Amino acid sequence: MGNFFGTGSNYNDTENANEENFEIVLTKDAIDYAVDSLAEEINDDYADTKGLVLVCVLKGAVPFMIDLSRKITVPHEHRYITAKSYLDTESTGDVQIISNEPLNIYDKDVIIINDIINTGLTLNTLVKKIREEENPKSLECCVLLNKSSKRKYDVDVKYYGVTIDDEFVIGYGLDCNEKYRNLPYIAIMEPTTLTSSSDDGDDSKDGDYIPDPNEKSDSE
Ligand code: IMP
Ligand code: MG
Repeated sequence: MGNFFGTGSNYNDTENANEENFEIVLTKDAIDYAVDSLAEEINDDYADTKGLVLVCVLKGAVPFMIDLSRKITVPHEHRYITAKSYLDTESTGDVQIISNEPLNIYDKDVIIINDIINTGLTLNTLVKKIREEENPKSLECCVLLNKSSKRKYDVDVKYYGVTIDDEFVIGYGLDCNEKYRNLPYIAIMEPTTLTSSSDDGDDSKDGDYIPDPNEKSDSE
């Protein structure tokens, strides 16, 4: 991925970010390339589907889901579901799933769309719950980013975009305390930025992962 590295020089919110702390791991072009490839695979695999549904895991997967959906030529529907798994800097070891409306995906071909897989807890829980409660015809997972070194829970992810190192990343939907989701690229945040950017810890409300800067690479 060496040719995708760069600097975050087009981010000007100096109140919220120190751009010197951003190291870009995926440029917008690299993201587009990954999204195009995934859409191509999905278009091939679901060419004969009688009903495809994309289930977006809020909030981080929103930009990915929308970009991917626009590239999927097979007719499909959208659903949205929230998964909460972290409280402050700790994983609760439990994922709370919130759905504002019935998924209504019985007998459909379903793909869960998430921004990133880390321990696998979020997707492992979602897959089990959707299989048991919704009885779709088929169920697959699609993630843009894969942190394979941190996997603790078994999940069968059919569609991976890019495998990244074990770093906390932001941008393109991924947040740190609700900030940086709007960045058009995906970048690494240094631990110094992580601690200084904490605001009200409100991220626990949407289940997003809040990094522990002191966390060792093999513990969670
Ligand atoms: P898992 O349940 O440990 O696989 O974590 C998946 C969830 O944690 C994702 O849906 C994200 O919300 C969040 N997450 C994991 N790693 C990162 C990261 O590097 N940046 C931002 N959010 C992350
Ligand atoms: Mg998130």
